[in-house]
Amino acid sequence: MGYLNTNFKRYGDIFNARVLWGESDGLIIVSDPKALQYILTHDVGAGKELSAPGDANRILASLLGEHNLLMLNGNQHRTRRQLVMPPFHGERLGVYGRLIQEITLGVISQWPTNGPIDVRCSMQTITMRVILQAVFGLHEGERYQQLERLLGQRLDITGSPITSAIVFLPWLQKDLGDWSPGGKFRLMTEQTDRLLLAEISERRAQADPERVDILSLLLAAKDEEGNGLTDQELRDELMMFLLVGHETTATALTWAMYWVHSFPEVKQRLMAELETVSDPADPFQFLQLPYLNAVCNETLRIYPVAMLTFPRRVEVPIELCGYQLEPGMLLMGAMYLVHQREELYPQPREFRPERFLERQFSPYEFIPFGAGARRCVGAALAQYELKIVLATILTRLDLNLVNKRPVKPGRRGVTLGQTSPVLVEKLRSRSVSKPLVKV
Ligand code: HEM
Repeated sequence: MGYLNTNFKRYGDIFNARVLWGESDGLIIVSDPKALQYILTHDVGAGKELSAPGDANRILASLLGEHNLLMLNGNQHRTRRQLVMPPFHGERLGVYGRLIQEITLGVISQWPTNGPIDVRCSMQTITMRVILQAVFGLHEGERYQQLERLLGQRLDITGSPITSAIVFLPWLQKDLGDWSPGGKFRLMTEQTDRLLLAEISERRAQADPERVDILSLLLAAKDEEGNGLTDQELRDELMMFLLVGHETTATALTWAMYWVHSFPEVKQRLMAELETVSDPADPFQFLQLPYLNAVCNETLRIYPVAMLTFPRRVEVPIELCGYQLEPGMLLMGAMYLVHQREELYPQPREFRPERFLERQFSPYEFIPFGAGARRCVGAALAQYELKIVLATILTRLDLNLVNKRPVKPGRRGVTLGQTSPVLVEKLRSRSVSKPLVKV
């Protein structure tokens, strides 16, 4: 954040950054919404002034696997995206609402009556269960529990500001025995792979055309020659979805809980809105609430969980913000800098949800999920989760922040997370009254 802020002050909307990103020796960081609109509407389709290359993401392969959506290029990328989209949209999303609420209620029912509750830990459990159950169609059982435990441990390594360097520095991935970071990482990957491959082989044997979870869709997919995906491709796709799909949302939820409980006036206004809901046990009623929506947007604005888009590559000479860019150059959109622009968001460092009620922002001014060819596949699911989990917790429990010191943002893996724990304690439970049923 410091690096981005300093360079934005020095150079403005576009600058060359000496950022370590795979084999590239520099990236161009862009934060002007108009320039971003140009880049992210020309990275797909016939003109193709730019591309959204998967090979530029190889730096993430050790963490997320080599054969998945993130690493695919061009047509292959487009086809795979279309294939995996259905579980994240429309009708399917509707089915997840109740499940998200049930999972949340299950997790908060385990919270202690006295003593601190680590918000991030619980949010991670919730989002992991949502991915495993809703998106993958995995059901409670031994394999499910082992996967949940292993993926949690993996995130403890990649999620700490110090050990997360393992993601970016290949020499740290070197296996120097079971106690070295590289050794632990390898061991966990092997154990996780065994579980994922066992699930894949079981599901191959009992193919069910009615199922629409990601694994079933990927299992049924065939290319033009009629070949399906290999076990390795399926494993890499699952691993990528598991990791990107839950750490990001858990980070956003933790920030949302932190902000709401840091400002009494925000909590009060939100509670007043939540009380207008006729049946808090119906998660769909939360989805239309304007202030809840504003709180979730402001959470994603102030510290966007992903600070930068994936790289886009210049394919033909173009002019951008007065500069001539040559083929081969890599560009990244800086969501963090866009969201800090004074002319769009006055006093940008202040948490003020009202700004989302006072004006409309274009998709390139408020851009937490990126845009264009690689726009976040899980954006709708993540927004759904944010609203339902937050509203479910607030309508059931009155909580208080334990730590009064501000929680600072910092890198957790590849996300912009918290540098210290967000701890809450229970003040009291709220009773949820059911609406009267007409007879
Ligand atoms: C608050 C939560 C989340 C945030 C802020 C977020 C943000 C992002 C961003 C910024 C990108 C890159 C967009 C670009 O380069 O233009 C991205 C890509 C992606 N996200 Fe998310 N994400 C979130 C949750 C999720 C969830 C829940 C899933 C799936 C279960 C998911 C799956 C993906 C995938 C697969 C891609 C890559 C798409 C591609 O390469 O075509 N994300 N996300």
